[in-house]
Amino acid sequence: MGYKETLLSPIKIGTREAQNRFFIHAMECNDEDETGNPSESTTERYENLARGEAGFLCLEAITVTRESRARDNQLTIMESNREPLKKFVARVKAANPKTLFIFQLTHSGELSSDEFSRRVTVNPLYGYGGELLSEGEVDKIMDDFVLAAQIAHDAGADGIDMKLCHGYFGSQVLRPYNSRDWKYGGEWKRRRQFAFDLYERISKAVNDKDFLIGSKISAWEGFPGGFGTDAPDSPVMDLTEPLDLLKGLEERGAQFFIQSAGSPGITISLTQVDKHIPYYAYLNQYWAKEFKKAVRPETVVIGSNFSVFRNGKNGLCAVDPKDAGLLPYGAKCIDDGLMDMVALGRQSFADPFLPKKLREGNEADIKWCTVCDNCLELLIRQTPVGCCTFNRRFAQILTEQRKLYGKLQETHT
Ligand SMILES: Cc1cc2nc3c(=O)[nH]c(=O)nc-3n(C[C@H](O)[C@H](O)[C@H](O)COP(=O)(O)O)c2cc1C
Ligand code: SF4
Repeated sequence: MGYKETLLSPIKIGTREAQNRFFIHAMECNDEDETGNPSESTTERYENLARGEAGFLCLEAITVTRESRARDNQLTIMESNREPLKKFVARVKAANPKTLFIFQLTHSGELSSDEFSRRVTVNPLYGYGGELLSEGEVDKIMDDFVLAAQIAHDAGADGIDMKLCHGYFGSQVLRPYNSRDWKYGGEWKRRRQFAFDLYERISKAVNDKDFLIGSKISAWEGFPGGFGTDAPDSPVMDLTEPLDLLKGLEERGAQFFIQSAGSPGITISLTQVDKHIPYYAYLNQYWAKEFKKAVRPETVVIGSNFSVFRNGKNGLCAVDPKDAGLLPYGAKCIDDGLMDMVALGRQSFADPFLPKKLREGNEADIKWCTVCDNCLELLIRQTPVGCCTFNRRFAQILTEQRKLYGKLQETHT
């Protein structure tokens, strides 16, 4: 089978079907209104991705509370956002009813900005700190997640990605560094119970077998005590806990997992590979393969970090560029059984119409992400985010930011 056939073949996810193998990653754009509702530019972004024929589309991280959040203008999912979210989903669905559209539910915990919100933690991490949460406060955060899932369902979303990656609250509870003796801290059985309880509570509250539930998971956060390490003070990779987590979540109804890695505040090149070290992307295929081996055949595993492969002009050595582009290489990952779908992050900013262009035979028109990471610079500067290479509006914002503050020296979120 050629790569086009592989990538454009449909796939079952739970009781639903995605029209092709392209998953669009959650990508925060910090352009919501002051109450966290989608703005016109937010809505147009997702309409475009749906029109571009995304098979499976994930909304950027939407916070379950304004009290603790990482982005000043972050999308929010609280009671007051219910009606605006309904209108937003209706517009995205009208753009393409076939695209499966899920919400990525998040709480930022210790990554919440203390400039405009409350930084909180389950075990203060060097360089981050935050107010120590009581067990009652963690229960309240879990209530907020359950309510958010109900609102997502009511708003017409097809499911949720219960975010357990990238150093946000879910990872903070799951990681070995959460070694304090409390309800969800210390030994693995207690840490994993946080995610298990959440899944059980969400499934019961939503009670709809057609509503998808899954998680984006950092296989290895890559710092001492991070998720996927073997001890609270060790950076050594050990997938025992991540793989056990997948099985436990699957038993509690998970139908898909998005494999990711790193914690962008600490180990950003694991989360989104830097163009100077494109071969880091290969690590992700190992993790996806391990995920795939651990779960049932019907559970969909989505692999990450494909933007760097581009059209084969990617700096990778010892490979023929015609096989090393995102499309042929992504399809090979699926054909080899490492994963079921490929995820597009930065590439989806550069060209939201990639799947449609491929289907229509307009591959030559695809705008390839240059992996310059200027969009990331905008995110770190807390401005609206988009592709600075192919969209003049964001190029202008970048120029203004650099005039004011100079070029960003450290790239971590
Ligand atoms: C500007 C920007 C915003 C992002 N926002 C999110 C987010 O909301 N949730 C998330 O899980 N990951 C987020 N990520 C990470 C991406 O979803 C993705 O995992 C990463 O960029 C790797 O994919 P890529 O190589 O295709 O870009 C973001 C990345 C960037 C550059
Ligand atoms: S700004 Fe650079 S890294 Fe970001 S989407 Fe555009 S080309 Fe890709």
